Amino acid sequence: MKILVVKNKDELSRKSAEAIIDTVKQNPSAVLGLATGGTPLGTYQNLIRDRQENKTTYQRITTFNLDEYVGLDESHPNSYHQYMRTNLFDHLDIPRENTFLPDGTASDLEREANRYDKLIESRGGIHLQILGIGENGHIGFNEPGTPFSSQTHIVELTESTRKANARYFSSLDEVPTHAITMGIASIMKAKKILLLVSGEKKSQALYEVLHGNITEQVPATALRNHPALTIIADEAAFQNMPRQAGQLIFQ
Ligand code: GLP
Repeated sequence: MKILVVKNKDELSRKSAEAIIDTVKQNPSAVLGLATGGTPLGTYQNLIRDRQENKTTYQRITTFNLDEYVGLDESHPNSYHQYMRTNLFDHLDIPRENTFLPDGTASDLEREANRYDKLIESRGGIHLQILGIGENGHIGFNEPGTPFSSQTHIVELTESTRKANARYFSSLDEVPTHAITMGIASIMKAKKILLLVSGEKKSQALYEVLHGNITEQVPATALRNHPALTIIADEAAFQNMPRQAGQLIFQ
């Protein structure tokens, strides 16, 4: 595991974008695993700026997103389909047909989940997976208790995740109760993983990833077993960490 501690979110955004751009330049047909949420927004802005300034091309890149809400149509303003278009895809030269997200409106969601894993495999698997982390240690929408062996599946969102994501909706009631997400095993298949952790609220989750027991109760702890994990975390993410952990990291 490599850990890069950065001063603040701006630096996290720059460094993570550099990692993606390096991957795209080294392999112009790379398959990227992408995440939503507030954390990677700055990363995506840096990719867009780089595209404008340096003309990095994504014409042969394929992307797979981690998750989508169940019941939100792809044109719904709060769907992750829409998030990805607005915040990234519309500003790159990536062909729309190379960008994939699970379909949260599929009539047979189990089948859709299965199809999604097969689709990732058929494209040769993910080269670089970008991840954020939930306050309770979730990755994608894999809530505490999700088996580490899970493939793409349907989940019921916890109250804390719905509350954390309510800021994007007009009320908590509007936040969907279920989502379709790549499972822990699907995520762990990526050749490289880049976990982005920013802000005090993620401090406990970061502590668990670095020092806690590897347990299904904290989904992100599975990542410690990944052979090519890089964590970029800002100083704020170390805020509430017991002193001992902070020392270990900064050594
Ligand atoms: C959602 C997403 C996750 C994301 C998490 C944290 O639950 N499904 O992929 O990592 O939010 O989001 P944020 O970066 O806004 O804190």
